[in-house]
Amino acid sequence: MKNLIKLTIVVSLLTATLAHAENDTRQLVKFPEMMQEHMMSNMRDHLLAINEILINMSTGNLDKVVEIAEKRLGISSLNLHGASHISKFMPKEMREIGMSMHRAASRFAIKAEEGELLPAYKMLNEITSACVACHMSYRIR
Ligand code: HEC
Repeated sequence: MKNLIKLTIVVSLLTATLAHAENDTRQLVKFPEMMQEHMMSNMRDHLLAINEILINMSTGNLDKVVEIAEKRLGISSLNLHGASHISKFMPKEMREIGMSMHRAASRFAIKAEEGELLPAYKMLNEITSACVACHMSYRIR
């Protein structure tokens, strides 16, 4: 009986995975190997940064929030991330979503700098919405 349940789970997982792959309408963007690695390591830092922003907001440490948002995600992060090298390989729309993410992060940083938690918090989703918009549309592998 247990095995039957296990088998059922495996089969449904497989079906779900296959169905998912078929429904994957994201556009494949080809990057040179090194750029791929660079981009993915940037991405992991983006998620880390968002998490650190949330942690510092929960402890009311807005100075730290401003610093993380601007330096790691905002316009000031463009050099850090080697953005001009990577963005060369992006279709125009993808590049624009990327820029909108950086701009949203800088706007958020300016709001957080004013020192009030709630107004800043209300703008945080403008950053994450740009993450989602790009993830829904593009893949690199
Ligand atoms: C301009 C497009 C774009 C933006 C903006 C963007 N991403 Fe990504 N991200 C991608 C692509 C493309 C991949 C690779 C997806 C794939 O090939 O399956 C990716 C992958 C990732 C990964 C997986 C990394 C790994 O090692 O597997 C994480 C985590 C991630 N992004 C986080 C974020 C976060 C957080 C944000 C917003 C702060 C963000 N990304 C904004 C395009 C973007």
